[in-house]
Amino acid sequence: NDLWKNGIVHNFPPCFSQSSAISEMAKCVWQRDKPSVTPKILSDLRAPWKLMPAEAKVPRPQVTPIIRRTEEANKKVQPTTPPPLTDSAFNFKSYLLNKDNRNFNLLINQPKKCRKTPGGPFLLIAIKSVVEDFDRREIVRKTWGREGLVNGEQIQRVFLLGTPKNRTLLATWETLIHQESQTYRDILLWDFMDTFFNLTLKEIHFLNWAAEFCHNVKFIFKGDADVFVNVENIVDFLERHDPTEDLFVGDIIYNARPIRVRKSKYYIPETMYGLSIYPAYAGGGGFLLSSRTMRKLSRACREVELFPIDDVFLGMCLQRINLKPILHEGFKTFGIVKPSAAPHLQTFDPCFYKDLMVVHSLKVAEIWLMWNLLHSPRLSCTQKKQVKKPFQWKKKAQTTTQASPLR
Ligand SMILES: *[C@@H]1O[C@H](CO)[C@@H](O)[C@H](O)[C@H]1NC(C)=O
Ligand SMILES: *[C@@H]1O[C@H](CO)[C@@H](O)[C@H](O)[C@H]1NC(C)=O
Repeated sequence: NDLWKNGIVHNFPPCFSQSSAISEMAKCVWQRDKPSVTPKILSDLRAPWKLMPAEAKVPRPQVTPIIRRTEEANKKVQPTTPPPLTDSAFNFKSYLLNKDNRNFNLLINQPKKCRKTPGGPFLLIAIKSVVEDFDRREIVRKTWGREGLVNGEQIQRVFLLGTPKNRTLLATWETLIHQESQTYRDILLWDFMDTFFNLTLKEIHFLNWAAEFCHNVKFIFKGDADVFVNVENIVDFLERHDPTEDLFVGDIIYNARPIRVRKSKYYIPETMYGLSIYPAYAGGGGFLLSSRTMRKLSRACREVELFPIDDVFLGMCLQRINLKPILHEGFKTFGIVKPSAAPHLQTFDPCFYKDLMVVHSLKVAEIWLMWNLLHSPRLSCTQKKQVKKPFQWKKKAQTTTQASPLR
């Protein structure tokens, strides 16, 4: 507890020191994920973790709605029938009442983030995180989210945060996050509560920030902290594109339907979104956009009604600028599913990751291990085969093209 109370951010448990061996790291993280496994030996490390919720992240809706509302439609929503309250944590009535409140202060900025290189960074990596998820930020910084040169291109990084919803922890976090920001200069913190249904606010504020403080960037990757990103592949892909043209690439979900089942966490009443199909949107995990598209989206999103599901909201902004998002096979935002036809195959084989761009839903230890395996000089994959046909992965991602609302 002292670690946190005193705000000594650099005093990490040994598993986060640069020099740790892989096994040490794995042990450390393993212990956090599965506390029952190694109870005694590492007990001195446990205290700091206790303050962190095991998974502060709310699971994302995989095939969920997008929304786009016209001004007129909005106006009549409130007076008509507000949807009855459901078991879901989401209160539509209060959301609709407050939806015009969409400008929040930036509490921690990195105004010089994109001024370090003369022509601006080639790629800005923007990662959604929550204040409590300190360990995930740390792992991302030390693996795929490193700043510096990749294939000769300058990479910069920011984390996107709101204020923690647990107010009792706020005072402590405030000190910590300021320390963290001073140490790494990669924290953007806005003054709205960091909840799942406020991720749309994060989207809007980030785009506005990028347009103001990072207009000289060439491309942006925006994603979650629980993904593995092959930045080399992304840079290679982007080098063949023009940042002054529109580009929006990811795991695009077409024809998803709003969930009308009241009990669902992702229930969206017709009063909120009347159409039966959402516009195409990028699934959680991550997507790429060009500088030009970033600027257009930051303007367009200002004119779109707030919608509680951020992926869908961005899809509505894309629709507004008439930009068709591009589906890329390298984005596995549903994670990789073990092929049922070949259960002996290791999905953790780095060769399967070699040709991908983004893989979703990795544990902290897995991100670290995969990054190290991929960068091991001993890695040799017999190319080609794996590249084109990553075996017969059970195509879970196919659900994206169908209408099934729940994962
Ligand atoms: C908020 O944090 C405090 C201090 O750790 C804890 O006791 C409390 O249970 C937390 N509240 C919620 C709602 O998680
Ligand atoms: C979003 O953040 C605002 C400002 O902190 C807060 O008042 C509101 O309750 C949050 N909304 C949701 C849906 O969490």
